[in-house]
Amino acid sequence: MIYYRPVETMNHILKVESITAPLPIDLSRPLEIEVGCGKGRFLTARAAANPDCDFLGIERMLERVRLFDGKCRRGRIDNARVLRLEALYTFHYLLPDHHARRVYVFFPDPWPKKKHHSHRLFGPLFRAALWKRLEIGGKIEFATDHREYFEEVCEGFSTDTRFRRVDPMPRPKEVWTEFETMFREQGLPIYSAAWEALEADDAPLAPLTIPPELEPREGLYRRDFGGIV
Ligand SMILES: C[S@@+](CC[C@H](N)C(=O)[O-])C[C@H]1O[C@@H](n2cnc3c(N)ncnc32)[C@H](O)[C@@H]1O
Repeated sequence: MIYYRPVETMNHILKVESITAPLPIDLSRPLEIEVGCGKGRFLTARAAANPDCDFLGIERMLERVRLFDGKCRRGRIDNARVLRLEALYTFHYLLPDHHARRVYVFFPDPWPKKKHHSHRLFGPLFRAALWKRLEIGGKIEFATDHREYFEEVCEGFSTDTRFRRVDPMPRPKEVWTEFETMFREQGLPIYSAAWEALEADDAPLAPLTIPPELEPREGLYRRDFGGIV
C-alpha cells in the first residue's frame, strides 16, 4: 500500500532488522554512498541537488547520525538515508553488487600513529569490497588533509588493476564537508584523488577474518554506545 507521509515526520535513519540481511536498497534508482558521512553536510547537499538519485551515508557515531537525520528533515530531503554501522562490514556483507555509481570517502580518520595504521579504512579488504559494490565505470572519490595516508591510499590503488585513476570531482565551497571546511579555514593543504572501477574478475569476496583487536572501534564503545539504530 502506498500512503502519504509528510517528510517532516520521516525518519532518515535506515533501520536494520538484521545485520546479516541485505540492506533495503531500491535497485531501480541510482545510488551514491558516503563513508563516514559525519553530520551529512556534503551528502545532504548532493541529495537536495539530485532528486533522481538515492544517497546513503554510513556513519558509526550516533550523534552525527542524528544530526544527518535533522538536516534531511529541515531540508525536506527524502532521497537520503543514513546507516549507523561499521563501513567495512557494510561494504563487505550488506550492499548489492555493482550498484553504487559513486562512493565518497572524505577525511577518513587517518590513525596517524604507526601502531594504529591497521585501523585505517583503506586497505586490500576495503578496496575489494568497494570494487564489488561500485558499478563498472563507477567512481570512488577520496580527500584527506593527511599527506602520508593520502600517499598510502594512492599507492594501494596504483597496483590494483580493478581501478584506474581519474580526475577528482570539483568540490565547490557549498559542498565541503564539516572537516574540509575546518581544515581549509586553518589553511591546511587538502589532497584529493578519484578512481574508476574497471571490468575485472568478479570472484566472491572471501569472508572477513579480522581479529577483534583490529576492528575499527572508535566511537562504538564510548558514550554513544547504544546498539544499532
Ligand atoms: C574525521 S571524520 C570526517 C567526517 C566527514 N567525512 C567530514 O569530512 O566532515 C571521520 C568520520 O568517519 C566516521 N567513521 C570512521 N571510521 C568509520 C567506519 N569504519 N565506519 C563508519 N564510520 C566511520 C567517524 O565516526 C567520523 O564521523
